[in-house]
Amino acid sequence: MKHLLKLMDLSAKEISEILNLADQLKYERKNGISHHYLEGKTLGMIFQKSSTRTRVSFETGMFQLGGSALFLSPRDLQIGRGEPVEDTARVLSRYLDGIMIRTFAQSEVEALAEHGSIPVINGLTDYCHPCQVLADLMTIREYKGGFSGRKLCYIGDGNNMANSLIVGGIKMGMSVAIACPDGYKPDAGIMKWAEQNGSFLCTSDISAAAAGADVLYTDVWASMGQEDEAEQRKLIFKDYQINDTALASAKSDAIVLHCLPAHRGEEITAKVFEEHAAEIFDEAENRLHAQKAVMVKLMGENN
Ligand code: CP
Ligand code: NVA
Repeated sequence: MKHLLKLMDLSAKEISEILNLADQLKYERKNGISHHYLEGKTLGMIFQKSSTRTRVSFETGMFQLGGSALFLSPRDLQIGRGEPVEDTARVLSRYLDGIMIRTFAQSEVEALAEHGSIPVINGLTDYCHPCQVLADLMTIREYKGGFSGRKLCYIGDGNNMANSLIVGGIKMGMSVAIACPDGYKPDAGIMKWAEQNGSFLCTSDISAAAAGADVLYTDVWASMGQEDEAEQRKLIFKDYQINDTALASAKSDAIVLHCLPAHRGEEITAKVFEEHAAEIFDEAENRLHAQKAVMVKLMGENN
């Protein structure tokens, strides 16, 4: 593993190894065991979109591993004034030990990896959000003990989260069901791959998707960059909500996950959100541990 550009690039074994290391790092952190596996290393973090969790968890995670992190805003970088990504990649590779990038086009992340000579980590694109799903898988394993025989149901927009959840869920042996309106389905290539590689359903019928689910998952109706469509999307997605009705179709011990930020009253009711806040905020915490594991794997000496 040289980069984390998308989950499709990782084998189930590689994902399991990241999750195992994340569990170890979480244990060490909780027990005050220092783990300076990235002493003297520097991560550059390029953010073309807003972030709370990704920024803070990468920055503090790097600090906890004995290294440091640089927040690089496109407002300050020459990339914001048109310097090509190919040149940015080659320059940053001379200073840094790794780059995390959050941006719009997946092709920009891939170009950074192609032209640079250091590990690149995708901190969200319009296409996928692999770091989030590694934390989600870690959380599902904590609550459910494993993946085999488990069903993951995602209700909402067929966006970056849906794409990565399908890939991560299927790779780890879960059954995955997506409930979304027609016209807002996940990536066609990913759905075709899922159909060929596991148990996969994409439907506009929420109760069919949620039936017998162990995990219910949702995300915002309008993602970053889709602010102009927000009002129209409120109408299109109004039924695609995790509420008591959706929960009634799932298993009685189903957990509810949300990548956050959440819009109560839209993709999830305030009641369900608060009743499942324990797992949702464990999930947010696990971003820290999962990403530290990714950084140790990519930037550490003996991994
Ligand atoms: N879930 C997630 O990536 O959150 P941020 O946008 O706050 O980083
Ligand atoms: N789909 C959301 C995820 C945020 C973490 C977005 O792209 O804005």
